[in-house]
Amino acid sequence: GASRPRLCFLGTGYLGATYAICFAELGYEVVGFDVDEDKIHRLASGEVPFHEHGLPELLRRNLAAGRLRFTTDMAEVAEHGDVHFICVGTPQRADGMGADLSYVEAAVTSLAKQLTRKALVVGKSTVPVGTAEWVEQLVARQVDPALGVEVAWSPEFLQEGFAVEDVLRPNRIVVGVKSDWANSMLYAAHKGVFDLAATEDREVPVVVTDFATAELVKVAANAFLATKISFINAMAEVCEVAGGDVTQLARAIGYDPRIGNRFLQAGVGFGGGCLPKDIRAFQARAQELGAGEALRFLHEVDLINLRRRSRVVQVAAELLERPPGPAGPDLSGTRIAVLGATFKPNSDDVRDAPALSVAAMLDKAGAQVRVYDPQGMDNARLVQPDLGYVKTLTDAVTGADLVCVLTEWADFRHADPHALGELVSARKVIDGRNCLDPALWSQAGWTYRGMGRP
Ligand code: UDX
Repeated sequence: GASRPRLCFLGTGYLGATYAICFAELGYEVVGFDVDEDKIHRLASGEVPFHEHGLPELLRRNLAAGRLRFTTDMAEVAEHGDVHFICVGTPQRADGMGADLSYVEAAVTSLAKQLTRKALVVGKSTVPVGTAEWVEQLVARQVDPALGVEVAWSPEFLQEGFAVEDVLRPNRIVVGVKSDWANSMLYAAHKGVFDLAATEDREVPVVVTDFATAELVKVAANAFLATKISFINAMAEVCEVAGGDVTQLARAIGYDPRIGNRFLQAGVGFGGGCLPKDIRAFQARAQELGAGEALRFLHEVDLINLRRRSRVVQVAAELLERPPGPAGPDLSGTRIAVLGATFKPNSDDVRDAPALSVAAMLDKAGAQVRVYDPQGMDNARLVQPDLGYVKTLTDAVTGADLVCVLTEWADFRHADPHALGELVSARKVIDGRNCLDPALWSQAGWTYRGMGRP
């Protein structure tokens, strides 16, 4: 029924699992589907296969309440769902910058083959514009038109570490629809979100639009955020040669409400599973559509971002008094503590993490690198198996000639520079996230270098 539609989430990775669990929490009858049996088994037994604050409790509560099931059986999905959300991954293609849509194709096709009644198929994955129309054709090819199965698009804006909040209390809902029926189904599928907002005296703005706009909203938002970060990192580059302080500059421009003070943290730049790959896929798609020039600046955004990583190696060479050679600085014989491996704190995600990439560059330049991260070690070992990893902050810094803070974990921000100073062989620190207090560290006898600070 349209009053409380039954929901399915196809793909129980980070996105789909979070949505499935949170919508069960909102009172919907939910089925989560994946082809990965291990993942389904873990979720069904109450274990969240990734780190996300608050999610394990919600998973167990809703499994126990009987509102939430997980399956690898697509027939069960087709039987259950009034609304099917496609939440599978769209990784960067191995052969270039575009997005790999093979998981979307597989999920939609195998669902469509099993559908025996009217349902709404809603894309949520981040995709190149035009995918929704293509999904509609995939569905049309498999399903009897008499069933009246329809397609819609509704992007998500989850931030790791805040994903539960972002699903339960989104700052907007965007839907791309072609019919009133699809619109009303999506309204019903989000009624729990609107009701929760009403009890808290909030309103959730809804943007109802066409397929192309709905798809573009997601990549436009991520492109804007990436641009904001690279803008401030470009200012950091200028500050470095002009003798300015980018943290004060960011504060000062951020007081202008038209600019705003968020996402202006200069440092080693953005990483993660979304921003880097999304800006590349967006450029590739614009190029295909003949609007490559419009997004040429995103190439610069990417380059500025990657330059911040090499900058750390350059500053390391300066602090260690190693002159730059033709193939970059030679850091052999030096011992460097790398603090941080994840792409941001309070996450175990190391995908495209600046910290790990800098660690690898230091290692390649010959340094003996010791990496420590409070939560990212297991994932880091999978991605960069050849780096030196240690189990504690103390192990990382003991005997180090240089300490690099590359992810702003609270453990590092609150570390005592006096105590750490006793462990290292030389008191030199690179603050790759501008998260330490330069005065405090200098007073403790450290040579402090931030990003874009004098
Ligand atoms: C991002 C978007 O914020 C989210 O809306 C989208 O749905 C997915 O991509 P996420 O990848 O979880 O979310 O991370 P986010 O908190 O946005 O940080 C991205 C990267 O930018 C991190 O590496 C972070 O360290 C870096 N960053 C962020 C900065 O370097 N400076 C800043 O000011 C903010």
